[in-house]
Amino acid sequence: MNTASVAQHYGSAGIADRVLAAFREANGPDAAVTPEALAPFDHFHGRGVAATQELATQLALHSGERVLDIGCGIGGPARWFAAKFGAEVTGVDLTPEFCAAAEALNAATGLSGRITILNGSALALPVPVPDDTFDAAYSQNVIMNIADKRQFYREAFRALRPGGRLALSNLCAGPSGEPYFPVPWATTRDMSFLAAPDEMRADLLAAGFEIADFRDITAQTREAQRRTRERIDKGDMPKIAVDIIMGERASEMQRNSIRTIEDGRGLAIEALVRKPG
Ligand SMILES: C[S@@+](CC[C@H](N)C(=O)[O-])C[C@H]1O[C@@H](n2cnc3c(N)ncnc32)[C@H](O)[C@@H]1O
Repeated sequence: MNTASVAQHYGSAGIADRVLAAFREANGPDAAVTPEALAPFDHFHGRGVAATQELATQLALHSGERVLDIGCGIGGPARWFAAKFGAEVTGVDLTPEFCAAAEALNAATGLSGRITILNGSALALPVPVPDDTFDAAYSQNVIMNIADKRQFYREAFRALRPGGRLALSNLCAGPSGEPYFPVPWATTRDMSFLAAPDEMRADLLAAGFEIADFRDITAQTREAQRRTRERIDKGDMPKIAVDIIMGERASEMQRNSIRTIEDGRGLAIEALVRKPG
């Protein structure tokens, strides 16, 4: 896989300005910029902040825990975890424009002191991510871009302390063929790598993790997507993160993502795994 093409798929100039403009349009010019109020605009994955909150519940975070966000995007989930749970978050992302947007929005919410953003790859986490350090980690809708999944899980395993937990949300391969492209995570098939659920389990076990929970949430995802499609069809969609980030391509990508899941070409999986110790 060419990681430059993945970063090119996602990146564009001025993302933080566009997020803040959408936020002000919805909330008025003087509204306080908080993680809650930003949530429709900065959680870049299906089911938005509700899905982030599910990961948080799975991780059962305590205040002051060190948390690694692998593929942090523009930082909505990192700000949520820092603000709601008192976590000290390190976010790593491949796309430089996303890292710049994350830092600008961290500053706008007053959370820069609690969140560190690093530009780099999940397959070779940047140098400031030491071994055996993080209490918890999570990765939301990133693994679909990763060809070498075992290396992804090995790096997460390395960064976690013994007993550390990792929560994942991921789209796995369905039985009925490949996704319809473009989708929000890939313009073309050469940057999309969906593993079957059994392969995901096997890769996690091969990296050394114990599996605490492994759930297929495709039914809930279908229901949320049905509501999204009704709004797209009516043309009265309020702007959310995917629209702001992917621009004119967003509607087609969302329709394809919905069809992919409806037609059994993608399965939504959430997992909680643990590093033994
Ligand atoms: C759909 S976005 C999700 C962003 C964020 N997790 C969220 O939920 O708001 C996928 C993210 O994965 C990142 N990504 C893809 N491949 C990566 C890699 N090899 N290393 C680090 N980040 C990667 C992209 O840059 C993008 O930010």
